[in-house]
Amino acid sequence: MRRAIYPGSFDPVTNGHLDIIQRGCKLFDEIIIAVLINPDKTPFFSVEERCDILRSVVNEIDHSECKLIVESFEGLLVQYGADREARAIVRGIRAISDYEYELQMALMNRRLQPALETVFMMPAEAYSYVSSRLVKEVFQLGGNISGLVPALVEDRMREKRSKAE
Ligand code: PNS
Repeated sequence: MRRAIYPGSFDPVTNGHLDIIQRGCKLFDEIIIAVLINPDKTPFFSVEERCDILRSVVNEIDHSECKLIVESFEGLLVQYGADREARAIVRGIRAISDYEYELQMALMNRRLQPALETVFMMPAEAYSYVSSRLVKEVFQLGGNISGLVPALVEDRMREKRSKAE
């Protein structure tokens, strides 16, 4: 049983994240998509909202035989990975600029938990510039984000904005 953790903030989940999940499904029997509970950040969506959105959208993608689970976690990622008996951490790398931070995290995680491998995956080129941060910025400034996030995310972002107005 090859279980991986795909951790992140997913605020919000983008089509780039979904692309990585689909690629991960070719390598693993189970992927736990783990949403970090980070009290230091003020997110657009709450952790509960992000988990709820993720559960809906991962249900829609082709995940062949791979089981997809969505959970939240707090504390050290490697501790969470060990508790879940995961073999690997999956992270997406879009560009060289991601690499330095990701390498630091991967090496620190390896030092803390040598049995847990980090697997870097590249999303499709079409998503190489897509990040949750930019999606939020473009959306908040009135730009078009369709095609960058699942339609449900766009709907939920609009809903949230209209409630705040
Ligand atoms: O989507 P993000 O914000 O780039 O994800 C970052 C994440 C959640 C992978 C990272 O912040 C993390 O693993 N946090 C948990 C705390 C932890 O283990 N920190 C040490 C990392 S070496």
